[in-house]
Amino acid sequence: MDIRVTSGDIANVQTPCVVVNLFQGVGAPGGGTGAVDRALSGMISELIASGDIRGRWCEMTLLHTVGRGIGAPRVLVAGLGKSEEFTVDRVRDLSANIARFLRGRRITDAATIAHGAGIAGLDPAACAQAIAEGTVLGLYRFERHKKADEDAGELKSLTIVEHDQAKVNALTEAAARGVIVAEAANFARDLANEPSNVLTPSEFAARAEAMAQAEGLGCRILDREECAQMGMGGFLGVAKGSQQPPKFIVLTYKGAGDEKPLGLIGKGITFDTGGISIKPAQGMEEMKGDMSGGACVIAAMRAIARLKPRINVTALVPATENMPGGNATKPGDVLTAMNGKTIEVINTDAEGRLILADALAYACKLDLSPLVDVATLTGAMSIALGDVAYGLFANDDAWAARVQAAAARAGEKCWQLPMFPEYREAIKSDVADMKNSGGRNAGSIFAAFFLKEFIDGRPWAHLDIAGVDFIEKEKGVRVKGASGIPVRTLVDLALDLAGRPLG
Ligand code: BES
Ligand code: MN
Ligand code: ZN
Repeated sequence: MDIRVTSGDIANVQTPCVVVNLFQGVGAPGGGTGAVDRALSGMISELIASGDIRGRWCEMTLLHTVGRGIGAPRVLVAGLGKSEEFTVDRVRDLSANIARFLRGRRITDAATIAHGAGIAGLDPAACAQAIAEGTVLGLYRFERHKKADEDAGELKSLTIVEHDQAKVNALTEAAARGVIVAEAANFARDLANEPSNVLTPSEFAARAEAMAQAEGLGCRILDREECAQMGMGGFLGVAKGSQQPPKFIVLTYKGAGDEKPLGLIGKGITFDTGGISIKPAQGMEEMKGDMSGGACVIAAMRAIARLKPRINVTALVPATENMPGGNATKPGDVLTAMNGKTIEVINTDAEGRLILADALAYACKLDLSPLVDVATLTGAMSIALGDVAYGLFANDDAWAARVQAAAARAGEKCWQLPMFPEYREAIKSDVADMKNSGGRNAGSIFAAFFLKEFIDGRPWAHLDIAGVDFIEKEKGVRVKGASGIPVRTLVDLALDLAGRPLG
């Protein structure tokens, strides 16, 4: 997908389709839409007057200009909805819907005005980035294992036409940033959509390594023996039940000399059967996506490598299957994590926290700070927040606020849940320093308290994405399958820290 910015007049552009827009309740269109309307001798205002075009949110009206007054043979009028409800997030979702609409009409190239930048008074660069992100995210398809659909169209290029020449450079840069971020999210989607027989821990590590090589990132893959030497009893306790060898993926980006690196830690369970505490069959296929957190962290590193912020970042992804093999960890077993703390395994299906315990302890050993971990950790997240927002847990208010602000700018909703000390009681064990399950109620918070045992008091945020990692229904930038959330948040956060370091 090629996204460009040029200066000029949208009414004169030679392209298969010109995209303009309209707010709900507007009788006489202005800006680029007005210019196109005048070139078409008032065709758009007539259709507004007749009630055929109403400007409702995501209403799509395709006009055929049959050689009249304008360079393009087609004009798409996209509804923006109510002006007071219009935001950059809506620009992103609208752009995704437009891109899919054009592709559905087998249109290969189009030009658009910058939705939101003129009339709605939004920041033009933020709008250009959102248009690029929405287009690339909205067109995503996972078709690697399917026969190609002969009938499917392909949108190959979108040109944002800006009438003010002075703004073109800033918009070009913003659109390029949007493409990088969205392509990273699509990379995460590709990894998470891949079935577990293809994306084994070894294949996951190989893809991370290939990416690192291509982008100039440092990469080390630790095998079972190296992890054993470091004392990663939690990680290897989970890996024991599987025939697939575990891999611990380490990626490094250096953009700021010897400053302490930001630590991004992602859960990399390539398939979660539950282990001996086996899951019910219904819906278990979704557990091929239990490495989404790891995929998002690795994908964010690709975007960071391309955007080159002045910051150091290290990504850690423990990758293994959670299987009920003959050698599997059993309920009641006691594991010792890398920091020496012991864990009574009550439920082998609470495996994410076992592998993250070692990854967080390793992050401390590498002196990474601040820390963000991303994990499809608890099914309870869906009960609490549905698929709208992911859960945020933190030990440091300032750091939580920074993560929240990055999520808001990126258009990925998150909501902070409390870590009142009373909740810590639930993971007390009679035989070990803690147990890995505290029961059903407030399960997401217990999991966060468990992780907190391994961060050595560093600023830390835990993102539980279990409710938002897999999308059932296409809507805006969300397409069916793996969501790629929170890649955009992580990239925005790294860019923000590069500009204003924590503390
Ligand atoms: N990977 C699951 C969580 C999950 C569930 C993610 C549904 C996405 C969709 C995790 O490993 C798990 O099984 N968690 C258990 C923890 C419990 C045993 C304490 C859960 O949430 O039921
Ligand atoms: Mn599990
Ligand atoms: Zn899991």
